[in-house]
Amino acid sequence: MNYRHAFHAGNHADVLKHAVLCRLLSLMARKDKPFAYLDSHAGVGLYDLTGVQAGKTGEWLQGIARLWVRNDLPALLADYRALVGELNPDGALRYYPGSPEIARRLTRAQDRVLLNEKHPEDGQLLKANMAGDRRVTVHLGEGWHVAKALLPVAEKRALLLIDPPFEQADELARCVESLSTAMARMRQAVVAIWYPIKDTRQLKRFYQDLAKSGAPKLLRVELWVHPTDNPAGLNGSGLVIANPPWPLEDELRELLPWLAAQLAQSTGGWRLDWLIEEKAAG
Ligand SMILES: C[S@@+](CC[C@H](N)C(=O)[O-])C[C@H]1O[C@@H](n2cnc3c(N)ncnc32)[C@H](O)[C@@H]1O
Repeated sequence: MNYRHAFHAGNHADVLKHAVLCRLLSLMARKDKPFAYLDSHAGVGLYDLTGVQAGKTGEWLQGIARLWVRNDLPALLADYRALVGELNPDGALRYYPGSPEIARRLTRAQDRVLLNEKHPEDGQLLKANMAGDRRVTVHLGEGWHVAKALLPVAEKRALLLIDPPFEQADELARCVESLSTAMARMRQAVVAIWYPIKDTRQLKRFYQDLAKSGAPKLLRVELWVHPTDNPAGLNGSGLVIANPPWPLEDELRELLPWLAAQLAQSTGGWRLDWLIEEKAAG
């Protein structure tokens, strides 16, 4: 396990993932009923952008830093911007939240936050960063077991984020497997899978497999900062979301053009469509 998210924290892919995660959590919190947030590949939860690792790549400068300096952010980014602002009260951008910190802050007293991280050092950092919040549980286990081990949840409402490092060739297939397991165990769960846009041929197969995953409906959200056939590096990223809460699709249709324009490094773009459409009743 070589991947450390600290090198990439706050980059364009984190901005997309975390902006969408904020909307998912906010929409789920519209109903009083409790829900459980599950994160199979959680990372450390909080990142220092002035640290050695983030400094080596400087990826955040083309990500969160571009949004931080603006005072005209769309209202749909208000939760995300406020959260980053709370971590940096003196106005200088230094700390950036990972998905666990975002979930901890956007869930309520009645909700639970179940985090899993396999890397032993990052797992300990995650525990330290989440210490003191009794709604949060940290597991140091295998992320690919989370759907089977933790679903269904007693609350009957769940949001599962699957965000692996994509160091191994089989990780797209394992994402599909986890989604199928989650859907078989808890059909109404909201499941979001993050993926890199690098090799579009591999993604074609991924989309085909996702369409057979058994999800009742599956939304695809993508944003790229370079043309998607650019041979070098991470051109963009995407999320597929099973059972997205209403009106996420409408919100993202409003948000994605703005985000793509702000984050583009050469020719950027976005797409939003359904890989599985809900069957009409009757
Ligand atoms: C992309 S990062 C997660 C970032 C985090 N979700 C966020 O948005 O802030 C992927 C994480 O998965 C961890 N990881 C790698 N393989 C794993 C596995 N098999 N099970 C659980 N965690 C794993 C890595 O150590 C890394 O921290």
